[in-house]
Amino acid sequence: MNRHHSNDEIDWKDLKRKPEKLFGFSYFYVLAVLVGIGLLYISNLNSIGRNAVNPTVFPDSAARISDIPLQSPRIIPPVDVLKAGFSSPELIKQGRDLFKANCSSCHGDNGAGEGLSAAMLNPKPRNFHILKDWKNGSKVTQMYKTLEEGIPGSGMASYNYLPPADRFALIHYIRTFANNQPADSIGDLKALDAAYQLAQGMNVAGQIPIKKALRLVVNENIAGAELVHKSVSQLNGSQDPGAVLLKRVMVDEQRVMKSAVSLKDRVRSVDDFIKMVTADPLHSGFKASVIRLSPDEWNRLYHYVFSVVR
Ligand code: HEC
Repeated sequence: MNRHHSNDEIDWKDLKRKPEKLFGFSYFYVLAVLVGIGLLYISNLNSIGRNAVNPTVFPDSAARISDIPLQSPRIIPPVDVLKAGFSSPELIKQGRDLFKANCSSCHGDNGAGEGLSAAMLNPKPRNFHILKDWKNGSKVTQMYKTLEEGIPGSGMASYNYLPPADRFALIHYIRTFANNQPADSIGDLKALDAAYQLAQGMNVAGQIPIKKALRLVVNENIAGAELVHKSVSQLNGSQDPGAVLLKRVMVDEQRVMKSAVSLKDRVRSVDDFIKMVTADPLHSGFKASVIRLSPDEWNRLYHYVFSVVR
């Protein structure tokens, strides 16, 4: 085996020194193409990155949950669960009307889960004729939990704004869609009563939709900003002894008026005012020396500041 017989073998050492030997002069051509592809890739990195992560929108009915409804505060009458827990023709009739009004848009008039809005929902509304695969179950107490809490992650919202008696009526009506409904034990009913304090009734606090609350907060802030602005320009032109005193002891009229506007409902007396200012004079726009004012001067200051912001 000498080195000269192997014409057909590649001499790697030699190739490393003169790589063009492998491809002949096409080596330079291949190199140029590779560099070109590399440059093209780099210049397109931006859009390559952008295309790689397509924004995906999942059709998910949980995202359709809207703002909380406007509710006035009210008192919910107590319910005798050991009575309401058992069906009667009156309850079923009352439940039928409530069902048409509140539930059939999704669950369908005949309870088969094929209401007009059902097509858009995932998961689909429950078919009340089939007792399989319920999340909470079809016992009275189980359905009560569903109506109280909703089924998170589905179009089934909480109906806790319906009076408990109406909810029991709805449940008894829904249970007529299927035979062999599971029965609640007295223990089940008592546990439900304990869980939701049904025998005691409830005071329900009022609530306003978040959107509306935000609008109120924003409007209040705009009104506050206008009041600060008005008070500052009033101060600048005023020869009132209170105004003159204020100009002597303050460092920043904006800050003085801002704290006064934001605290005007809480500061009810000179003493409150002194406490508010001396707690942190600079923060509320005053010189530190303000703490040396006489009681008379505090009075003058207080009456001036709060007469302009109120
Ligand atoms: C916006 C559509 C919609 C409306 C309106 C609606 N539901 Fe539902 N409901 C659903 C969906 C969707 C499910 C299935 C939830 C799941 O499988 O996670 C469901 C499930 C249920 C279940 C079964 C819970 C379980 O244990 O699996 C009950 C009971 C129920 N709804 C009762 C009612 C009642 C009573 C009303 C009217 C007061 C009502 N629903 C109104 C959409 C709706």
